[in-house]
Amino acid sequence: MKSETYIDTMMPQPAVIRKIVWDTEDTFSLTLEPGGGDDCAFRFLPGQFNMLYVLGVGESAISISSDPSKQSSIVHTIHRLGFVTSALSRLKRGDIIGLRGPFGAGWPMDKSKGMDVCIITGGIGLAPLRPVLYSLFRNRKNYGRIILLYGARSPLDMLYRVELEQWSKLPDVNILVTVDHGDSSWKGHIGVVTKLFSYVDINALQTIAMICGPEIMMRFTIQELRQRAVPSEQIFISMERNMKCGIGLCGHCQCGPKFVCKDGPVFALPQVSHLLEKKEI
Ligand SMILES: Cc1cc2nc3c(=O)[nH]c(=O)nc-3n(C[C@H](O)[C@H](O)[C@H](O)COP(=O)(O)OP(=O)(O)OC[C@H]3O[C@@H](n4cnc5c(N)ncnc54)[C@H](O)[C@@H]3O)c2cc1C
Ligand code: FES
Repeated sequence: MKSETYIDTMMPQPAVIRKIVWDTEDTFSLTLEPGGGDDCAFRFLPGQFNMLYVLGVGESAISISSDPSKQSSIVHTIHRLGFVTSALSRLKRGDIIGLRGPFGAGWPMDKSKGMDVCIITGGIGLAPLRPVLYSLFRNRKNYGRIILLYGARSPLDMLYRVELEQWSKLPDVNILVTVDHGDSSWKGHIGVVTKLFSYVDINALQTIAMICGPEIMMRFTIQELRQRAVPSEQIFISMERNMKCGIGLCGHCQCGPKFVCKDGPVFALPQVSHLLEKKEI
């Protein structure tokens, strides 16, 4: 961002929709070209999000799902849910939306150096972790094994199928996918994502775990990691709360002393484990 002032961070900048790809029946990826000033390079950290604004409708927090090393365009993968995400889904190539960001603290890429990285995710939760995967693969020698456990509702609900297939062929990469409901073509795992733990070897002290998905899934995943003795401070989760300002001003996303928009959305488990016991506070 060019300025740290609140006025700038509250002011949506125009971004042009360059490409729209439907990943599944209800989830699509928008490629945006931010055009908010002289310096058009858009720099972000894996795990950060933008506020996307549809004129006359409203704003939503959406994670950036593209490769952080590519700064001339950015991708957001969006699950069509309510007013704003449905309005976004009706836009066309060449349309302009408002964009504020990037906001929030990202995933612990530095802390992960020299460690194995185990990513556990469900549904749209894979989107904020795709920039992590791009970064890990780009700087491969800095990290140990890469494990991805991913759960989708059905084979047709799986995101980024082509990339998952390509990544699974790389050395020292273990990608396991499960679905809640298979179909006649599905030969893979069926069941909740935590079942996949029985197929991987986790070296507890050597592992950083990154989790993003529905809160219930995150709770059970944390239990599994604890049973395998992964230290709490090596477990990171992405919290989702309703957001308005995105910069720690309005209090909408406040959880006790923490603002999810500013201090998160990614937190080390010891910072938020007490909050996970309460639903959507
Ligand atoms: C940091 C962060 C990153 C996110 N990244 C993505 C992403 O990459 N892709 C994506 O599809 N979605 C993402 N979301 C969720 C997204 O912001 C909401 O789904 C979206 O704002 C819903 O807006 P809407 O107007 O379409 O729905 P609405 O009409 O506002 O609401 C539909 C329902 O969803 C609830 N809701 C709205 N926002 C949230 C929220 N943030 N958490 C929980 N419930 C909510 C409402 O209370 C209502 O029940 C993210 C949220 C956060 C906080
Ligand atoms: S969204 Fe306003 S304080 Fe976090």
